[in-house]
Amino acid sequence: MNNKTAKAYPTKTFFVTMITRDITFEDCILDLIDNSVDGASRSEGNPPINLDDGDDLSKYRISIVASSDKFSITDNCGGMTLNNAADHAFSFGRRTSEAYDAYSIGVYGIGMKRAAFKLGRNIRVRSTFTDTDGSRTAFVVPIDVAEWLNNDDPPWDFDIDDAEDLDENGVEVVVQELTREAQTALGNPEFVENLRRIIARDYSLYLRRGLNILVNDRAVDGISIELRKSDEFVPMRNHYEDELEDESDPENKKVSVEIIAGMAAPPPESTEPDDKIDGEKGFGWYVACNGRIVLAADKSAVSGWGTPNWPQWHRQYTGFIGIVLFTASNAAALPLTTTKRSVDVSSNTFIRARLRMRDVSKRWIAYTNARKYNLANAKKKEDKAAVISIQNVENQPTIQLPMIPKQRIERRANVHYSVPVSKMKQLAKGFGSIQMPYREVGLKSFEYAYEDLVEDE
Ligand SMILES: Nc1ncnc2c1ncn2[C@@H]1O[C@H](COP(=O)(O)OP(=O)(O)OP(=O)(O)O)[C@@H](O)[C@H]1O
Ligand SMILES: [Mg+2]
Repeated sequence: MNNKTAKAYPTKTFFVTMITRDITFEDCILDLIDNSVDGASRSEGNPPINLDDGDDLSKYRISIVASSDKFSITDNCGGMTLNNAADHAFSFGRRTSEAYDAYSIGVYGIGMKRAAFKLGRNIRVRSTFTDTDGSRTAFVVPIDVAEWLNNDDPPWDFDIDDAEDLDENGVEVVVQELTREAQTALGNPEFVENLRRIIARDYSLYLRRGLNILVNDRAVDGISIELRKSDEFVPMRNHYEDELEDESDPENKKVSVEIIAGMAAPPPESTEPDDKIDGEKGFGWYVACNGRIVLAADKSAVSGWGTPNWPQWHRQYTGFIGIVLFTASNAAALPLTTTKRSVDVSSNTFIRARLRMRDVSKRWIAYTNARKYNLANAKKKEDKAAVISIQNVENQPTIQLPMIPKQRIERRANVHYSVPVSKMKQLAKGFGSIQMPYREVGLKSFEYAYEDLVEDE
């Protein structure tokens, strides 16, 4: 049994069918947008993206066209260089030799390939960039998936051909021969509308800086997250530096964390579900990694609800918004999942942040409990809190919420008795109307006796 080895080479089919399985079409498209956003950041010198006003990104445009027979995304964000395409961009997984761009969203080296394979079978990635000698260069990487799948033998590569320049430096990804599932999704106007909503939310920090994202020729407006503030309701804004334990390079260890949280809207008066106002939707915890929102309005165990010492989300907690921003020059330090649709709950950086999040959530839970006993007083205070955008929230170690004085609630006695109907009707007549409901007759007779026997004493 000597000199035997077990083959461990991957197959192409694995990459085309398996890695595309656990991601939605929306998230695939977001992966392509992420690459364009990273391109824009690169062109701007890789600034960190946080809540502060930063570089103006209004000269950058990402345009997505989705239909049942074709998908394309085109950006003017600087383009991919020929060297990058040859050595890195089309590899499955990032090579250790490949340096990270500071503050990038891209981490794993898989997003673009996974997105293209998920969408279709005929892929063209075209890039135009300005080379180091100042000349403009264009190339295209055409991928015929069926043909490429024919042979698993290494080396695996894609041809790079000459191409016509794009109008501006940037990248264009065109996918045709869409998969059957992609045809159905992309041809559905509701899918496109939902995609717009997701983009408006998840790139809100970039859209705020002027970045243009268009879906089927219509610009997407970013949402703005707002809280409420008054003397008594003060949102928190707390910033701290976290460090990875398992990273030796001091520069690669650092993750900057900012938590902003507070009342975004008064909690509901009743905890009964109300279909008319879809009240709960935007509330809960948000998480952004290098500016990209990866978890939105979360009410699940991911952001802590229903985990030890933390109750399940309940309608009563509606009105709360918290956002945690993780920013790291080394994107691998961020607590992201590969689909960028959630956080890696095993990340110690995230676990440490969650302890702080729990403290904040608990304060809010306590407030929503207290207000139930004196709703009128609480509502008066809540009405005084004015809208403030999260950007304008000042530093404050934790959320401040008013003390609601407990209103003394009188204990009530319920009475139930039965009497002959004829007598009841006569008494009703005595009180002025034979039609008077029995309940009212009961109450009136109580008041009558009370006045006579108690108050006149
Ligand atoms: N629109 C673009 N503009 C410039 N470069 C791009 C663009 N799209 C892709 N690239 C290059 O291709 C590389 C590979 O992209 P891909 O999405 O596969 O991986 P990644 O972004 O590095 O990591 P992740 O898997 O986390 O997305 C990027 O790192 C980038 O260098
Ligand atoms: Mg990417």
